[in-house]
Amino acid sequence: MTVKLAVIPVAGRGTRLIPLTKSLPKEMLPVGRKPVVQYVVEELNRCGLQKLLFITGPTKIAIENHFDLDLELINHLRETGKEDLLNELAFEKADLQYFYTRQRRQLGLGHAILCAESFVGKEPFVAALGDTILGINEKAKIVERMIHVFEEKNADCVIAFEEVPEDEVHRYGIAAPKDLNDPNVFQLANIVEKPAPSEAPSHLAVASRYVFRAEIFDYLKITKPGKNNEIQLTDAIQAMIADGKKVYGVRVTPEEHRFDIGNFESYFSAFLEFALNDPDHGEEIRKKLQKFLK
Ligand code: UTP
Repeated sequence: MTVKLAVIPVAGRGTRLIPLTKSLPKEMLPVGRKPVVQYVVEELNRCGLQKLLFITGPTKIAIENHFDLDLELINHLRETGKEDLLNELAFEKADLQYFYTRQRRQLGLGHAILCAESFVGKEPFVAALGDTILGINEKAKIVERMIHVFEEKNADCVIAFEEVPEDEVHRYGIAAPKDLNDPNVFQLANIVEKPAPSEAPSHLAVASRYVFRAEIFDYLKITKPGKNNEIQLTDAIQAMIADGKKVYGVRVTPEEHRFDIGNFESYFSAFLEFALNDPDHGEEIRKKLQKFLK
């Protein structure tokens, strides 16, 4: 595979989750047994990425601590006869290199990606939002398929998409595919940000994973601030398509369903679903829930 580097933006303030996110990074919120961003890192590791660059901010130091090798904790578990818990820290030993840089002003997702420019250089890279889990079963391999499409089609950009119900299209960037001869891999004629249902070209919503060439930085640099005075990644992608660049979409499988934890409703329902599927406690929680609902 040609793509070895992933950029993970985690610098947003998560204002929709205040007060939870006042000092706690939203990417560190627990969903089931793990913080959100751990699922993201494990997914990228599974897909063969080796270098991870986090775009971070002042309230996000807990993320760096989480991925450090904590020898003191490991020794403590050994000394106190809790070796069985060492498995839970296996993620610390993944064959990954971690890098961090700060987004010094909250100027939006597009700007967060732009902060990676000097680190990325000329390499192609994956961008994976640090607040979105794909799939409950820890098997998602969409990024691997996206990299394959990127190479095979010699694409300029590849984006993950998930089919959403009509009443949700207004929340996302929506694909306008050139055609859907292959419903799983399609070239984009356009991407429309948060359309009204009547104007949506499809129900295929951007699913928080991208593969880019370094030329995305050139587009981001000339992208004017849009909604909320932020530099919108979608605007830069639209400009690429308008210039005739080859932008492809890859559809996630139902098993790779997106859990975005950006607002309380989606966070609560993600936690609930992971808790209900917990191998040790899921059954019990299910029974309790049935009792509450009586
Ligand atoms: P969101 O679009 O959900 O934005 O970010 P946000 O600022 O975190 O949340 P609200 O709207 O204030 O509630 C999607 C991902 O992009 C990162 C976030 O950390 C999150 O992982 N992001 C967003 C940045 O890194 N920088 C930004 O300026 C904005």
